[in-house]
Amino acid sequence: MKFNKTIFNTITIVGTQWGDEGKGKVVHFLSRDADYIVRYQGGNNAGHTIVIDGKEYILHLIPAGILEHKKCIIANGVVIDPKALFNEIKFLEKKGFYIKNNLFISDLAHVILPYHKYLDTIKETTQKIGTTQKGIGPCYGDMYSRSGIRICDYLENDTFEELIEKNLKEKYPLIKKFVNVNDLKRYIFKEQKKFSKFIKPYVANTTNLLLDLIYKNKKIIFESAQGTLLDVNFGTYPYVTSSHPISGGVSTGTGIPPFYINKIVGIAKAYTTRVGEGPFPTELEEKDQTFLRTQGKEYGATTGRPRRCGWFDAVIVKHAIKINGITELILTKLDCLKNINPLKICIAYKYKNKLLTEFPASRKLQKYVTPVYVQTEGFSQDIRGITKYCDLPKNVKNYVRLIEKYCQKEIKMISLGRDRNETIFK
Ligand code: IMP
Repeated sequence: MKFNKTIFNTITIVGTQWGDEGKGKVVHFLSRDADYIVRYQGGNNAGHTIVIDGKEYILHLIPAGILEHKKCIIANGVVIDPKALFNEIKFLEKKGFYIKNNLFISDLAHVILPYHKYLDTIKETTQKIGTTQKGIGPCYGDMYSRSGIRICDYLENDTFEELIEKNLKEKYPLIKKFVNVNDLKRYIFKEQKKFSKFIKPYVANTTNLLLDLIYKNKKIIFESAQGTLLDVNFGTYPYVTSSHPISGGVSTGTGIPPFYINKIVGIAKAYTTRVGEGPFPTELEEKDQTFLRTQGKEYGATTGRPRRCGWFDAVIVKHAIKINGITELILTKLDCLKNINPLKICIAYKYKNKLLTEFPASRKLQKYVTPVYVQTEGFSQDIRGITKYCDLPKNVKNYVRLIEKYCQKEIKMISLGRDRNETIFK
């Protein structure tokens, strides 16, 4: 995985499943060679776990490159909870990471406010999506319905107060069972006083900054959160997040023209997981999920919820390869499949005796399709610590080959453990 010196020095990292594919580790790995790492969508619903020398770091908003002391950007497509950002910066500073001149926040990013979280909770009672309850959907909802509050508004006291009055007129009747309006206002203004002062030094026109960096041929990683199947347009709607984790999201999420996004790396876990509600064709029966969940430590990094586990699904990964224009594929957590025999890969779906090779748009089909599997022998060896592809056991290589065959894409890199050193190039 190298920066593309001949054209533009950008790499976009996307998830090919329902998130939690191990993007954090890959971004951290690649950021050693990068100058800037950019988050372009989502918010603190994300949880990127990175392990350095056995120490675990979970980041929600700030790109994983910060752990390599690289410069990081939170671009306009991200929704920012000021308190979550404050806590994350403080956490990193305590761990000895330098943030001051290394973090830039877009003045156009939208702000998550306490009422968004109440609205998230209320919405879950009428339409259960299994959200992270971080206010993500309601905040993006405000952005699209033109009542959102951006970082630049948050920094202007009078603008902010005016916008809060307007928003509360509209939203308070919905949330009044949770909180008294005056208490809520007092709380919001008190937080804004504290956090706007804190955030201000980091705020910039990040589009101009990025364009300037691109002209200077700097190496930039665009890091997505969540995964393609959680994309609000191309995922399992309505069981999705409210942003665009796909490569197309980079352009609107940062303000840079699409032709700068030409190297797109897709991350696929060697099996499939999802958190929250929604269709999952290759989901294992509950009793069979426990082994994989334990072996893969499949618990949400943000909410701690157990992740639903299932077989590798080539139909969704092919869908992701197409939608994102993935140029290279990375396979993660292959080591977690140890002692599972046989291993299965879903290569198509069946619905009423009809074979489907494309991921269907219909929510009914997504729910009721049955997967068509190929199977192959599993492995019982501990493959962590292996550093060369040729040294992997035969059955592991067979499994990788089958994934390549049914996804019609070569796998360039394989992750065999949580540490950055547990990575092999193929
Ligand atoms: P929201 O993004 O909190 O609105 O949640 C919408 C859906 O996306 C829910 O099913 C969440 O579990 C899922 N989701 C959000 N962020 C992540 C993530 O980082 N990894 C996996 N699933 C996520």
